[in-house]
Amino acid sequence: KPIPTVTFVLNETSYTRLCSTKKILTVNGLFPGPPIHLYKGDSLYVNVINQGRYNVTIHWHGVRQPRNPWSDGPEYVTQCPIKPGANFTYEINLSTEEGTLWWHAHSDWSRATVHGPLIIHPKPHTTYPFPKPHAEQTIVLASWFKGDVMEIIKSALESGGEPNKSDAFTINGQPGDLYNCSKAGTFKMAVEYGKTYLLRVINAVMNEEMFFAVANHTLTLVGQDGAYVKPFETKYIMITPGQTMDLLIKADQTPSHYYMASRAYAGLVYDNTTTTGIIQYSGNYTSPSTPFFPDLPNYTDIDSATNFTNKIKALNSKEHPVDVPKKVDTQLIITVSVNTLPCVNNSCEGPNGSRLAASLNNVSFVTPSISVLQAYYYQIRGIFKPNFPRTPPYVFNFTADADNMPDNVLTPLNATKARIIEFNSSVEIVFQGTNVMNAAENHPMHLHGFSFYKVGSGFGNYNISSDPDGYNLEDPPEVNTIGVPKNGWAAIRFRADNPGVWFMHCHLERHASWGMDTVLIVKNGGTKLSTMRNPLKY
Ligand code: C2O
Ligand code: CU
Repeated sequence: KPIPTVTFVLNETSYTRLCSTKKILTVNGLFPGPPIHLYKGDSLYVNVINQGRYNVTIHWHGVRQPRNPWSDGPEYVTQCPIKPGANFTYEINLSTEEGTLWWHAHSDWSRATVHGPLIIHPKPHTTYPFPKPHAEQTIVLASWFKGDVMEIIKSALESGGEPNKSDAFTINGQPGDLYNCSKAGTFKMAVEYGKTYLLRVINAVMNEEMFFAVANHTLTLVGQDGAYVKPFETKYIMITPGQTMDLLIKADQTPSHYYMASRAYAGLVYDNTTTTGIIQYSGNYTSPSTPFFPDLPNYTDIDSATNFTNKIKALNSKEHPVDVPKKVDTQLIITVSVNTLPCVNNSCEGPNGSRLAASLNNVSFVTPSISVLQAYYYQIRGIFKPNFPRTPPYVFNFTADADNMPDNVLTPLNATKARIIEFNSSVEIVFQGTNVMNAAENHPMHLHGFSFYKVGSGFGNYNISSDPDGYNLEDPPEVNTIGVPKNGWAAIRFRADNPGVWFMHCHLERHASWGMDTVLIVKNGGTKLSTMRNPLKY
């Protein structure tokens, strides 16, 4: 059947939040952007017309795009950006994804305002592996900055210091009534007593992992990152930037008004504010002057975050089986660090006059001048080096104080490196958090082109001889973004069955901007990417 086309017009639109008005880059004038609804296995063309002031690209977060990296989106990794006045048509090809994903700009910090839901329904005549909800509601968590986001990251990179933190979090584009000038717009969801609803929660926040809860109501987690999980009940969730979570909520409380609320978890540069929406029961009752407020864990509550995350298991049913590689052909151990680089203009705002940087295996990723995919496909030399990691795993105490670290981990190499992976090999990646700046934090690591199984995680240093014994190879959750715990590690496995050039990075935007990125290149059965589709529709 013919592939339908939708049009995304990017332009600057005035929005008023927190008592002030500014122009933000939007898709079709909307913040958050328009939802895309598809069925499992569908394809869609999206014609992106850039009428904004900046270069832009769009990424379909969590869509594997089999053999179609040309439409994946990260700027200078799979394409050159779409210039103001130009357009580019993406082809979204769904395969096994089912549930909630999202799309977002993938150029500088434009994703702050350019993002929206990508909802993948079960194929017609099939249904969810849980009772059909009465209705569905998408909940997009995002960041609001009073300033211009592109200026914020530009000046932070020039000064070498921390970028400004956001001024508010939002639920479906609204800060909610705990912020000034925000009461009238507060997001409200109407419910009927006794009915069950599906909440599709997307964390589009720029720099913080988030707790989310609804007052007095129990949530049942049923899906994550476009895959189903074994349902379990919880009072709150912890969701990292990049992740999505599908929750059932039953309206089984005394009819009234109840807050849903979300606040940050653990970041160093955190926004310590709380965004709210209101669940309103229909019917006749006297509404309280303030709705009931949920118990949200504190922003430093590692135990609550870990307890929740460790409960998530794949559904692993007959219709939705787990297929985790039992043997590993390639193991990569990748250290994840925030560190510093020498200052470029002698007056940097980082520690000791340095500029802040970030790295994977001590390589701070430098964005190339043409895309890595073009360079690989057309064999253009000098754009990237295929020798990531820089050296075999460093042997040191990753989570020790910075004073006890070897000098070479304090200053990363500044380079564009990629890792070539054999087609169809089974890959394990262990992400090892470090405490290089005495500033350990969580890192939501995201891989394009794949979803992967989270087989293990823990605190402290990964132990290659004993930690694999504790892996979950039975029902590990299948995700596209994994939270690497502060001062800890996380291990993932996947089969490299999708030839292409795929970005891998921290989904905290300031870390990605500082170089916490790399590229995996999956070969096409020993040859180059010759059977891949549509080389360059420019
Ligand atoms: Cu959601 Cu590379 O990103
Ligand atoms: Cu990070």
